[in-house]
Amino acid sequence: MLKTFSAIAVLLTATLMAQAQSSLVSFDPAAKVFRLDGGGASYVFGVNPRGELQQMYWGARLGAKDAFQQAAPMPEWASFDSSYTNTPQEFAGWGAGLFMEPALKVTFADGNRDLVLHYVNHAQTANGFDVALKDIKRKITVTLHYSVDPESGILARSATIQNGEVQPVTIEQAAAAAWSLPQGHYTLSYLTGRWAGEWTLNQETVHAGARVIESRRGSTGHQANPWFALQAGESSEDHGDVWFGALAWSGSWRMTVEQDQLDAVRVTGGFNPFDFGYVLHPGQTLETPVFYGGYANNGLGGASRLLHRFEIAHVLPRTAATATLAAPKPRPVIYNSWEATEMNVSEAGQAALAEKAAALGIDRFVMDDGWFGQRKTDHAGLGDWYVNQDKFPHGLKPLIDKVHALGMDFGLWVEPEMVNPDSDLYRKHPDWVLNFPDRPRSEQRTQLVLNLARPEVHDYVLGFLDKLLDENDIAFLKWDYNRNWSEPGWDQLPPAEQKRVYVDFTRNLYAILAELRKRHPNVEIESCSGGGGRVDLGILRYTDEVWPSDNTDPFDRLAMQDGFSYAYTPQVMMAWVTDSPHWLNHRSTSLQYRLLSSMQGSLGIGANIAKWSDEETAAAKRLIAAYHQVQPTIVQGELYRLISPRDGSEFSATQTVKADKSQSVVFAFIHSTQKGRLFPTLKLKGLDPAAQYALSSIEGKARPDTPAVASGAWWMNHGLEMDQEFRGDFQAAAFRLDKK
Ligand code: GLA
Repeated sequence: MLKTFSAIAVLLTATLMAQAQSSLVSFDPAAKVFRLDGGGASYVFGVNPRGELQQMYWGARLGAKDAFQQAAPMPEWASFDSSYTNTPQEFAGWGAGLFMEPALKVTFADGNRDLVLHYVNHAQTANGFDVALKDIKRKITVTLHYSVDPESGILARSATIQNGEVQPVTIEQAAAAAWSLPQGHYTLSYLTGRWAGEWTLNQETVHAGARVIESRRGSTGHQANPWFALQAGESSEDHGDVWFGALAWSGSWRMTVEQDQLDAVRVTGGFNPFDFGYVLHPGQTLETPVFYGGYANNGLGGASRLLHRFEIAHVLPRTAATATLAAPKPRPVIYNSWEATEMNVSEAGQAALAEKAAALGIDRFVMDDGWFGQRKTDHAGLGDWYVNQDKFPHGLKPLIDKVHALGMDFGLWVEPEMVNPDSDLYRKHPDWVLNFPDRPRSEQRTQLVLNLARPEVHDYVLGFLDKLLDENDIAFLKWDYNRNWSEPGWDQLPPAEQKRVYVDFTRNLYAILAELRKRHPNVEIESCSGGGGRVDLGILRYTDEVWPSDNTDPFDRLAMQDGFSYAYTPQVMMAWVTDSPHWLNHRSTSLQYRLLSSMQGSLGIGANIAKWSDEETAAAKRLIAAYHQVQPTIVQGELYRLISPRDGSEFSATQTVKADKSQSVVFAFIHSTQKGRLFPTLKLKGLDPAAQYALSSIEGKARPDTPAVASGAWWMNHGLEMDQEFRGDFQAAAFRLDKK
């Protein structure tokens, strides 16, 4: 009897929890109000009496029965700011005196450039709505797609623009969405960088005017990343209201964060309008990228944890082997040959590295650049994707067989969208690259960009990759992209239409990735662009991991990994251990420090392991084995940035907690001890206060100042005290806590 009761109680609790987590999507026809609830957030918008779609609320979840009146437009502000520009529209057409960033700006064939979008109708979808808007006179329709994730409350928004006119229309500017924030004062966070210096977190007060974050480069870019967070008032890492968003697009993009003359804050983002122009012929449609947006009430830390969970559950692709799983598998620990051999690869050399890699306990052996065409330096070979006979006289099979016999799977580097002028492909098809006729073709790294928007280039790239995967037992492709665009002409099209390259290139990239995954459902892919030049939620739908930076200096990486983690889950963050002194900063660090720095993400080894001593090999082997044991907690657990390395602090620390709170992993780093300062006591987070957790050191050093077993409450309130000997330059420690 008792048993039955407790079973019912469990069932009831489960149902209640499911309700609390579930999404509700509703439309109130009388007030013309749409409402989307998910996780801890609600999003409300409605049709105002003029017919415009207007945002009404975005923030912490409201009561299920809370009702809204019909949306009231903002009034005119004297005669200088129309009600149209002041009203927080969901997707404002440029017309009728709009001075805020438009969501859509078009030029009609007759020169008219006025566009005013009014609500027409809507349809309810699985977790959201499709809402149709139309210009007040002309047959331009925009269908806004909304869906909410029941668990996180993260919204996915995008738009489909259709030309129902009898003449073509040029789209000058098209956003995926505009996000309006509650009236308030905000701090904006965004990520910028450069080659070998990605993932700098910038934080600044939002002032009147616009802050534009963008790429004009044809791809995502190292220089800025399409993610933002806006914190209200006193919000911090752990507390307060945060609104955040991420644009799923790997071509030129733009996000404009504006504070208008009435202090209202809006973020509008989508295709970059710079050099944009997409001709829609009668009946044609243009699909915008998806702009994700979310709300958290527990600071930037809460925001990134929501985003991480969402990416793992809803963005990242699955292989055939993981198709039915709630999360993709943690990444295999890889070895990559790049820093060891650069392009000087050979069957014997790679086989020797593979033997050493296997001895370390590596799961996947990846051969980097240099295996194809006449590739000796970066001056030749890109485009010629046949195996270099001098380096691999019997093809790739002997090496791949060897790697398999050693118990690893095999991965290969490719850079499909590029060509060296010194290549058979370029000699045969000089017209296949982005170019303006009779203008110079600017080379970078002696390479040019193939115009992937062209059908024949699409077919060539898909064809050679498909053949490569058909003929060789390859588990993984590192897909590189080592320059940005110049002279982005497409002279096979009429002049007015050439700018569609900004859309079609990226769409074809996605199409090739999708088709390859369909034909080879177990192959995994890494997105690399000279490091982190192509990391966004668009490419992450088709790629399993990313290479965050060519900078593998373990100290630099701490801050870069910290920056990365605001927007992206450690599951996709590859981090290699390379040689010391480091080639970039000439900094010397211990092997242990390098390993622990890389173990904060998805671990790889990229050093010249052929030169490692027996001692180094044994130490790395032990830490790789220790990593394997806790990897799921590190890469898919809840991440807490305990002390950020960002602020030039002497110290930094992170903690991850497994979803069921049964395990936690802590990393602590010292940059350079000054004045004998001791490492601060780390108050841990996210544990079960009542449970007992046993602490052990991952790198195998005793920590006498801490109890071996204590409650979650102890670790969170008293905290974890470091050994007083934990001092010096570039020191690292790691711990695991296991629930007893
Ligand atoms: C890029 C990548 C590196 C390596 C080289 C090969 O720079 O980011 O990891 O693959 O190309 O040329």
